Amino acid sequence: MLIFRVSAQEADATSAASVGQFLADNHGEFGCASCHADGEGSEVENGSCLECHGSQDTLKEKTLHMQINPHDAPHFGMDSCTMCHHGHSEFENVCLGCHLE
Ligand code: HEC
Ligand code: HEC
Ligand code: HEC
Ligand code: HEC
Repeated sequence: MLIFRVSAQEADATSAASVGQFLADNHGEFGCASCHADGEGSEVENGSCLECHGSQDTLKEKTLHMQINPHDAPHFGMDSCTMCHHGHSEFENVCLGCHLE
């Protein structure tokens, strides 16, 4: 059974293992071009992330313990890595805008 939150504002910004630092900072050693094809600020494709982090299935396995598995989204358009793993701002689990943890 699924229970829903009243508003997206209530969603917890649960940190993905990074406290006080953003994703790009944690990836500093790889350089800007590891995420941005042009090395500056071009749109980040899922493919860049998956080159290092394995397949979508690998990720799905890693978060199987979560009741709502963020790496196994049944909803159209909810599968861009960076809608949760922002590059230069706080991580947010967008699923929690509607689902309980
Ligand atoms: C050049 C290789 C590389 C690329 C490209 C890359 N990562 Fe990583 N990432 C790593 C390594 C190495 C670590 C540290 C070890 C680990 O946790 O796997 C890491 C750690 C992480 C972590 C855990 C630490 C944190 O900061 O929260 C997340 C989440 C993550 N990466 C997501 C992403 C996403 C999303 C992208 C694409 C926007 C991406 N990575 C691109 C190599 C990469
Ligand atoms: C709907 C939100 C969401 C999306 C979209 C998403 N993730 Fe995640 N990701 C999470 C959450 C939540 C965690 C677990 C955080 C924790 O355990 O603290 C996580 C954890 C991770 C980790 C660390 C896994 C580990 O335990 O070693 C990596 C790497 C990662 N995600 C990469 C990606 C990549 C690459 C994509 C795109 C293919 C992606 N994520 C898409 C929410 C998301
Ligand atoms: C781990 C992947 C990653 C790395 C490494 C990274 N970025 Fe980003 N960057 C992103 C993502 C994702 C966005 C989209 C906005 C967001 O999520 O913060 C972005 C957005 C940007 C933007 C804004 C583009 C726009 O018009 O919205 C600029 C500029 C930028 N990055 C520059 C850099 C520079 C310069 C570096 C190296 C010092 C760098 N980035 C390293 C992931 C990364
Ligand atoms: C805008 C609100 C919203 C967001 C955001 C959202 N969901 Fe849902 N989700 C729903 C609704 C509504 C249903 C349908 C509930 C039902 O029919 O019982 C649903 C159903 C589901 C189901 C059950 C599907 C099935 O076939 O039974 C899963 C699993 C799920 N969502 C996962 C996710 C994941 C993972 C994310 C984040 C990547 C997410 N959702 C984000 C609203 C949302």
